Amino acid sequence: MQRVMLVDQLIKKIAEKKVDIGVIGLGYVGLPLVVRFCEEGFRMLGFDVDSKKVALLKRGKSYLKSIPSHQISNVIRSGLLDVTDDFSRLSEPDCILICVPTPLTEKMEPDLQYIERTTEDIRKHLRKGQLIVLESTSYPGTTEELVLPRLESTGFKVGRDFFLAFSPEREDPGNKRFTTGKIPKVVGGVTAACREVAAALYQQVIEKVVPVSSPRAAELTKLLENIYRSVNIALVNELKMLADRMGIDIWEVIEAASTKPFGFSPFYPGPGMGGHCIPIDPFYLSWKAREYDFTTRFIFLAGEINVHVPYYVVAKIQDALNGMGKSTKGAKILILGVAYKRDVDDARESPALAIMNLLKKKGASLLYHDPYIPSLPRFRKYHFPLKSSPLTENLLREVDAVVVVTDHRSIDYPWVVKHAPLIIDTRNVTKGMKRWEKKIVKA
Ligand SMILES: NC(=O)c1ccc[n+]([C@@H]2O[C@H](COP(=O)([O-])OP(=O)(O)OC[C@H]3O[C@@H](n4cnc5c(N)ncnc54)[C@H](O)[C@@H]3O)[C@@H](O)[C@H]2O)c1
Repeated sequence: MQRVMLVDQLIKKIAEKKVDIGVIGLGYVGLPLVVRFCEEGFRMLGFDVDSKKVALLKRGKSYLKSIPSHQISNVIRSGLLDVTDDFSRLSEPDCILICVPTPLTEKMEPDLQYIERTTEDIRKHLRKGQLIVLESTSYPGTTEELVLPRLESTGFKVGRDFFLAFSPEREDPGNKRFTTGKIPKVVGGVTAACREVAAALYQQVIEKVVPVSSPRAAELTKLLENIYRSVNIALVNELKMLADRMGIDIWEVIEAASTKPFGFSPFYPGPGMGGHCIPIDPFYLSWKAREYDFTTRFIFLAGEINVHVPYYVVAKIQDALNGMGKSTKGAKILILGVAYKRDVDDARESPALAIMNLLKKKGASLLYHDPYIPSLPRFRKYHFPLKSSPLTENLLREVDAVVVVTDHRSIDYPWVVKHAPLIIDTRNVTKGMKRWEKKIVKA
């Protein structure tokens, strides 16, 4: 009776937009989610441990390229958004969405410290009738094995006193066509009531909600999506290396294969795998699979091939320099684009960093240009204290080679090719530039 009452009360409150919603972790996933709920008139309370981010948001400033500051200042001014690093306020929201990081440790194992800390913060302030949704990508079982027992240690029962679900984030930073509200949202609740309440919440802001039978099914859905990409990118990267040896242009082949109207989805080769999802998430599953005496061979093979690609690119750079009578040692090399993908301001896990690291070890002198990354911060594995060099004709003339790692749309590639002595192109930006063929190397 009480369960039904709490479910109905919360669903009614959601439908009337009278719920307060908390989002924990205001990064690439959390902040767009906050903005999306505000757009629909929900009152939001954002939590982050990073007091600099909290201070910026309070002043109406955004730190993400995909979210203009005026969007933040509007919602702060209207009173719809409040942000805090005071986690005792976690008792205030009716619904709490967790968007904290889920990286890997040095040993390539899940680093669950952020989820653990957040769960502990919520546990301390849990109150009856709250909905908690984990959005951070993790292995199947995280919601029910890690989060649930800690929350139930309060004496509250899931599905009766509070609601718990997993709903993976599918944010595609920089994608203007599929913004947060347009990407279908998969939702798995610990109980049917949990799923019902979580689905009711997302239905308010997302065009299509896809309920599944359990949090584990939702957790594995997200991993399947990322493993599918990782494996297919590895496949096409492997074929790229073979095609190069055979003297065939892999880009031409992919374009031709893409004309098949069924049974083929194009994936494109690149300088290696980047971002904080595809190189990382599959290993959450391979780690968990060990508990079931299971080896995820595709995941390891894809990882192995994708990790090798920066080495292949560097070998191509060396060969190209050699062809011009130059050695890598002492060569001045401009890395064009360090973001992990086009038109984003995020260089975490970017293959540019692996390539730069290998080139540095070989004694190259490095510069970079990226219109969206003015300076390189310290990363998990690498630190290059460099600032983005202005892209000028003089710079292009004075370097020994330009390596196109990220194909940002704002760069005038024919102009770059015209002025640089040598181009190593990992993204096919030089497609059709036959005039300058002699100084272009596809890698
Ligand atoms: N970025 C993407 O494109 C993307 C897409 C899909 C899924 N994901 C997943 O979403 C999750 C978040 O990723 P992200 O890219 O937004 O990360 P992010 O690093 O951009 O943001 C995470 C935020 O959480 C904050 N934080 C860390 N610990 C905290 C704590 N204990 N309490 C409160 N805040 C805390 C950090 O300060 C940061 O602002 C990860 O699990 C990631 O795998 C990311």
